[in-house]
Amino acid sequence: MTKRVILEYPDSRLRTLANKVNVVDDDIRILINDMFETMYDAPGIGLAATQINVHKRILVADTSVDKSDPRCFINPEIISREGEVDSEEGCLSVPGFYVSVSRSEKIIVSALDQEGNSFDYSLDGLLSICVQHEIDHLDGKLFVDYLSPLKRERLRKKILKNKKHKKDCCDSDDCSNPRVSVL
Ligand code: NI
Repeated sequence: MTKRVILEYPDSRLRTLANKVNVVDDDIRILINDMFETMYDAPGIGLAATQINVHKRILVADTSVDKSDPRCFINPEIISREGEVDSEEGCLSVPGFYVSVSRSEKIIVSALDQEGNSFDYSLDGLLSICVQHEIDHLDGKLFVDYLSPLKRERLRKKILKNKKHKKDCCDSDDCSNPRVSVL
């Protein structure tokens, strides 16, 4: 397994629309293993292939506390939705920032598993929110898109400023500037 690099906002490659997987073969299964390793290492509870610059419709998730519930969805499609829920979301591609997003409370997702078999899954709670967040990634959408344009622009500037600070200063070992704690 190989840990992959996670793209970070505002990288324009995060805006790519992912393509459907036609055949679930060993290459796809290797990719999925890499995605799990990258997600657990980050650490995160969900990862879309888009985030590692692979534009195929695959997402992985594990919302358990002890890494005991790995889930993989290939070509996921939400076929029904119920209710509405607001929650604070974070994203491995926007590290250090949290945004309140409104999502469907319960969903039924149709997808392929790692053997290429199709299945329908009823999801609620954190896993439902996570899968909706990751499907957004596959569609080139980020949780910051749910903010007003003004708030999003403020966030973008803050992120770029932090990145610049990190690059100019925090690559050296003796950085003690407290501003870095934001990222
Ligand atoms: Ni994300």
